[in-house]
Amino acid sequence: MTLMHIITAPDPRLKAKAKPVETVDGDVRKLMDDMLETMYAAPGIGLAAPQVGVLQRVIVVDTAKEGAPPLPLRMANPEIIWSSDEENEYEEGCLSLPDHYAAVVRPQKVRVRFIDHENEIREIEADGLLATCIQHEMDHLDGTLFVDHISKLKRGMILRKLQKTKKHQAEAAM
Ligand code: NI
Repeated sequence: MTLMHIITAPDPRLKAKAKPVETVDGDVRKLMDDMLETMYAAPGIGLAAPQVGVLQRVIVVDTAKEGAPPLPLRMANPEIIWSSDEENEYEEGCLSLPDHYAAVVRPQKVRVRFIDHENEIREIEADGLLATCIQHEMDHLDGTLFVDHISKLKRGMILRKLQKTKKHQAEAAM
């Protein structure tokens, strides 16, 4: 397995729309496994392929509690086929927006259809943190970041700070 580089905002690659996967073959399976390893190493609870520079509709998530057995989910072409009217608010973060968090409101439960790592079509119902995480990762496939769900003012503040951090890192690398 290979650790992949995670792209941080602002970056045009995080605003692009990812293409559907045709078949989950060995290459896609390897991508899923590399993404999971990258996510665990970060550490994070979800990662979408565009965050590692791959414009395919692939996400991985694992919201198991620390110390509990891992519950990795590998999803290609995820689709929300039902979502609850009840909503939940979570303080969200993102590996592409390191050190920034904001409260985002989303449906509390969702039913998701996807292709798993064995190229089988599956459906699961997710609730709470898992539902939020899946919706957050699916947003990445359409170029949407969690900051796109909050006020323009707060989004601008976060993106300017990230831009500054990038500039400092570039200077430090020289
Ligand atoms: Ni994210």
